[in-house]
Amino acid sequence: QKHLLGIEGLHPEEIRTLLDLSETYVDLNRAASKHSDVLAGLTQINMFFEASTRTQASFEIAGMRLGADVMNMAMQASSIKKGETLIDTALTLNAMHPDLLVVRHPHSGAVNLLAEKVNAAVLNAGDGRHEHPTQALLDALTIRYAKGRLHRLSVAICGDIAHSRVARSNILLLGKMENRVRLIGPPTLMPSKIEEFGVEVFDDMEEGLRDADVVMMLRLQRERMDGGFIPSEREYYHRYGLDAEKLAFAKPDAIVMHPGPMNRGVEIDGTIADDINRSVIQDQVEMGVAVRMAAMDLLARNLRAARERERADA
Ligand code: CP
Repeated sequence: QKHLLGIEGLHPEEIRTLLDLSETYVDLNRAASKHSDVLAGLTQINMFFEASTRTQASFEIAGMRLGADVMNMAMQASSIKKGETLIDTALTLNAMHPDLLVVRHPHSGAVNLLAEKVNAAVLNAGDGRHEHPTQALLDALTIRYAKGRLHRLSVAICGDIAHSRVARSNILLLGKMENRVRLIGPPTLMPSKIEEFGVEVFDDMEEGLRDADVVMMLRLQRERMDGGFIPSEREYYHRYGLDAEKLAFAKPDAIVMHPGPMNRGVEIDGTIADDINRSVIQDQVEMGVAVRMAAMDLLARNLRAARERERADA
């Protein structure tokens, strides 16, 4: 693969390879010296057109630990503000010979479009409600560590599925790895025809969580609701917020996940989020750095091999 634009185009074997390599980076990140030089000589530009804490910080740390020259574009202070388009911005940066472009954009499909215009390898850091591939990969790695496998598990994804690129990428990845995916949420926040993805749909937490090995909570993504249905937080928490009573419907050893950012008291009770016996939310953040290191390592190998071939053909 030249780019990492989504889970949709990945083969299960490619997912396993990426997760195996990520494990080596988990070990490196826990070592006294966290440095490697696999990206030495390469330039990584992070372009975040939408707010981020975890994804931006972990891509930056990942690039630095692998020895890349890393630049974070301050998109809010860029010439986008003067009317420059996404494509002209991409072409301008492309002329500076970056090797890796990490892009987050509020519009679905914007990152794929940008990838067609540049020479660098492009990593999708989240585009609209379309995909967030590195989030699904770090979730998969977290599950594999906690459960010892990534197949034949029952995974409940709860909340605002309709506006969630995290849900979409996870549904694709977990399906490819032969897991059972159960979606729980209000019908107004459930995409139409989602059953075509091979998932089961529930609007009741007791039914949906029954026998789940993994409970993945999502926040209400109000920034993508276009003024449509916005439930009251109190009512939402009452019906769909994960508390001890609702978690008891899942398996006794079910793990609790959340991609962040969390809204405590809306989709999840704070004591559940902080319960180190059940919650793997901080593990997800740790895995995020390792997965992004692995993704950039693999894409850089492909990039270098393609450039070698071009040189040989010239
Ligand atoms: N999960 C996630 O994408 O978090 P950020 O928006 O903080 O990057």
